[in-house]
Amino acid sequence: MKKKKDILYFITGNNHKFNEISLALQSKNIKYQLKQLNINLIEIQSDNPKEIAFFKLRSIKDDIKGSYFIEDAGFFIDYPLNGFPGVYSSYIFRTIGNEGVLKLIDNFEITKAHFSSIIALYFKPLEKEFLFEGIIEGRVSPRIRGTNGFGYDPIFIPNDYPDKTFAEINMNEKNNISHRGLAIKKLVEFLKKN
Ligand code: IMP
Repeated sequence: MKKKKDILYFITGNNHKFNEISLALQSKNIKYQLKQLNINLIEIQSDNPKEIAFFKLRSIKDDIKGSYFIEDAGFFIDYPLNGFPGVYSSYIFRTIGNEGVLKLIDNFEITKAHFSSIIALYFKPLEKEFLFEGIIEGRVSPRIRGTNGFGYDPIFIPNDYPDKTFAEINMNEKNNISHRGLAIKKLVEFLKKN
């Protein structure tokens, strides 16, 4: 009889992220079944993304029996905003949104930006924490374009698709190059080895 797969919980209230990660894990032949769990996580103020991720991970350790992970992303406009909104990405998106961000860089023809993703995993079999990171470089679109994806996707143009925003490519294409897709690839390699 086939052994029932262990559950790997992804703690998130963001269905877009869950869908991206589910797709990225499909047919990867890992011995875990992914399940979404929506628990409100405490967000500390820090300019160190790893510290934020570890704090979130540890804050729910007693609530979950098996292995679980959280994912924290950030959008950084390296030029001309020196990395803003960065660790404030969520707050800035909720307050001024993509329109507001574009206004901040209105006069700049050349821009440089990146997304980062940190996956923090609590791995029950080893009773240890692990981090997996991914980064994607690109620039900011001068206008909002596309309807796929979420968040800052309509204003981010990845270097790999110089004419398209993340919101103009499909989820598979995004996963192949994105910050989250790259972090997930590292998680998959880890799960295959352990
Ligand atoms: P979070 O704290 O990881 O949920 O993300 C911080 C902010 O970045 C939120 O406003 C998200 O909507 C946005 N964000 C996270 N990941 C992505 C992405 O893959 N594309 C576009 N925006 C994203």
